[in-house]
Amino acid sequence: MEVLAVILSLLLVALSLVFISRRRNNAGAKLPPGSFGWPILGESVEFLFGKPEKFVGDRMKKYSPDIFKTKILGEKTAVICGPNGHKFLFSNEHKYFTAFRPHPMQHLFRSYKDKAAPPPPPETQRLDETKTIRQPGFLKPEALMRYLAKMDIVTQQQLKTHCEGKNVVEAYPLAKTITLTLACQFFLGINNPERIARLVKYFDDVTVGMHCLMINVPGTIFYRANKAAAAIRKELITVIKEKKQAMASGGPMLDILSHMIVATDPSGKSMPEAEIADKIMGLLTAGYSTVATTITFLMKYVGLNPEIYEKVRAEQMEIAASKKAGELLEWEDMSKMKYSWNVICETMRLVPPLQGTFREVLTEFSYAGYTIPKGWKVYWTVSTTNMNPQYFKDPEKFNPSRYEESEAPPPYTSVPFGGGPRMCPGKEYARLAILAFVHNVVKDYKWEVVDPNEKVEGDMMPEPQKGLPVRLYHH
Ligand code: HEM
Repeated sequence: MEVLAVILSLLLVALSLVFISRRRNNAGAKLPPGSFGWPILGESVEFLFGKPEKFVGDRMKKYSPDIFKTKILGEKTAVICGPNGHKFLFSNEHKYFTAFRPHPMQHLFRSYKDKAAPPPPPETQRLDETKTIRQPGFLKPEALMRYLAKMDIVTQQQLKTHCEGKNVVEAYPLAKTITLTLACQFFLGINNPERIARLVKYFDDVTVGMHCLMINVPGTIFYRANKAAAAIRKELITVIKEKKQAMASGGPMLDILSHMIVATDPSGKSMPEAEIADKIMGLLTAGYSTVATTITFLMKYVGLNPEIYEKVRAEQMEIAASKKAGELLEWEDMSKMKYSWNVICETMRLVPPLQGTFREVLTEFSYAGYTIPKGWKVYWTVSTTNMNPQYFKDPEKFNPSRYEESEAPPPYTSVPFGGGPRMCPGKEYARLAILAFVHNVVKDYKWEVVDPNEKVEGDMMPEPQKGLPVRLYHH
């Protein structure tokens, strides 16, 4: 009896200690200011369906310009803001954070994983992805240098097919087709217009579905995205089988797909077809709408600003004049396209192709006087700096000259590709693809935007409501 009493007392003491220490932890930790919003939904609706710069701007004003808490897409999240926030995040990648994909993205891109199995620990996920995306060097300048001439030819052919003899073309569908044609050539080694036209529609649905409420019933964004992802996978599996056959009969192995097919892990096992399909789908999705959106809005802003068009054309014609007839773009040409690159940066500032990304907190840390607990998510977004007059004078104005060296925006204010170890691995590819487009389009055409007031829809993934028709004038 006595023993039982002692055990009970000990248990009571232990429980009290746990309780007190929990209370201390919660009380001691000064969590960032902010609101978790509604039960279950949190602030997801405001996040997904409002203007991104308004979502962060309102909260930065209300709570703190450095950090605020919220609950989005089912996760307690600290939004780290401003150039200092960007710097902190990009510099502490391995120390405090690992990548985190919102749940709709995990669902859409991880088909090859056993869905019943628990997800691997975040550290391993990161390693796994790093190996696939970064190590093989597919997207490194050395590899891209070899592909540049092909990019130039494909862009010229596409412009010829879709623009020659036309008075008006819709810039958005044109940009999407060119982008996907380039990517299919580069990643898959295919150039089949019907197949690409089919894929465009599917990729649109998957892209929108990456950030949405996970309601899987007919008619919802998530339902459409799932269907589209399944259709892309089916198409890609066919492409993989065709590629294997071609490789078996000695066909060329110049694309990323061929490399994935022959790659083996340390135990000598090759990647299953479903996994290859998922990885390729991930790469194509990451590089598709981002590049297509930038090209589209570049057409809009350059079309609306004839003096900027003239400066871009002067720069590109100087490069064209330095080449013999029929000579294709080379690496050195791209480094001369400085003003054109500023035009691209300014387009991405006004219409960010990607708002920002999430991280998962690996170990509790402090920032700006607040504690962010382990397991929380952290979100960074270009919208905490892009439109701030403190960094960009007259932020609404399209002014590519603001990037010229003497008046360049302060560090970490212009980060369309992110920064640090997780910076977009496709940055160089995107730069070349968009510059090759600019070079060829201004060489042959001048254009006018048909409706300068055309509405832009979609807050996370902006798109012109009517596809941005432009009136073309052939030089
Ligand atoms: C204008 C074009 C593009 C923009 C603005 C852009 C922007 C970004 C940003 C902001 C990130 C997140 C970085 C972070 O989490 O800190 C990212 C990640 C990524 N991008 Fe891009 N991107 C573009 C084009 C591309 C292209 C063409 C590809 C592929 C060829 C690509 C592949 C990827 C991949 C695979 C990731 C994930 C990397 C990781 O999680 O480690 N992107 N991109």
